[in-house]
Amino acid sequence: MAAGLLEQGEDAFRRLFKYYKRRRPPPDFSTVLDFSRAEKNLKVQIAPLNAASVNDKDACKAGLQPVSKWKAYTLAGYPGFMFISDPFLPGWQCYWAKQCLKTYPRKPNVCNLDLHMSPEETKDLWEQSREQLRLKTPGKREAKSLLEKLRWVTLGYHYNWETKKYSPDHYTTFPVDLAYLSEQVAAACGFHQFKAEAGILNYYHFDSSLGIHVDESEMDYSKPLLSISFGQSAVFLLGGRKRQDPPLPMYMHSGDIMIMSGSSRLLYHAVPRIVPNLEGGRLPSCLEHTTTSNNQHSDEGDWEACAKYLETSRVNMTVRQVLEVGQSFPVESDSEKRRRHPAVLLSSRLLREDK
Ligand code: OGA
Ligand code: MN
Repeated sequence: MAAGLLEQGEDAFRRLFKYYKRRRPPPDFSTVLDFSRAEKNLKVQIAPLNAASVNDKDACKAGLQPVSKWKAYTLAGYPGFMFISDPFLPGWQCYWAKQCLKTYPRKPNVCNLDLHMSPEETKDLWEQSREQLRLKTPGKREAKSLLEKLRWVTLGYHYNWETKKYSPDHYTTFPVDLAYLSEQVAAACGFHQFKAEAGILNYYHFDSSLGIHVDESEMDYSKPLLSISFGQSAVFLLGGRKRQDPPLPMYMHSGDIMIMSGSSRLLYHAVPRIVPNLEGGRLPSCLEHTTTSNNQHSDEGDWEACAKYLETSRVNMTVRQVLEVGQSFPVESDSEKRRRHPAVLLSSRLLREDK
């Protein structure tokens, strides 16, 4: 009986996941919680932040407004969960989005395309995709650039999708700028010793989703998980400790930051749907970029390509601390070591959930 029910996948989480993923008829989005307009929602409270722990100059170096200006919220019934509505300084979302598209996919970081392409072919996704993206006509069906085939990038301790583990012998330097941003956000939320050790970047288009999962591969659950989004918006489902617990639907817009910590650190969650930003323009206004030149070889050309990409996409960065301070990795058996090689497989959470 229980197995039969599970096979049909009709528990509360699966049902809502499928509901928001549905195309025809389109779902009713009116009950999706929108923190940017949530001042009167009874579940939403203003989060106390630690403004004194990040000085304005350090916040500014990461592209963040002074912490005293952030709009941060908590949710009744979800202790440890925090939502910060776009705390970035004007222009800075463009910087971070460009890092996600141009810089972070580069070697030695690892991406999904490495599974079936040679290092030579994936050496510079940006160079190979930039002109193709820049010259794209919106709405027209054209061959996909490599960047549009990018689904995930891992940073720092590279997450192994097959074993669902991190390992000490697959580590590359975590990007210094992203570590700095993460540490400022964590400190403002009261986490002073946070170390950005692993990152998973997800790249979504309007037909993408991220299956129901919990992030439990890290070894120190007392440390928060940070999630930062750019581009189009997502419907995010925040569930409970059990996979089938009914989730709360909420929007994540460009620039929004989510913190899962404390007893919310191990909650199930998923992204059933990417939706066009609610402002109605091709890009949300926080991604507007003042044009200074028209030179296709300049930074301006880079932004034109980023903008084209983000008109139909969303990028999400999750940043994690893997180890406790002073902790090292548990010793791995030979059979576990063998399982890590030669190649990683896609985790089930990244497979399309279209049953
Ligand atoms: C993840 C994740 C959520 C998102 O990468 O573990 O839950 O909003 N991402 O993309
Ligand atoms: Mn997750």
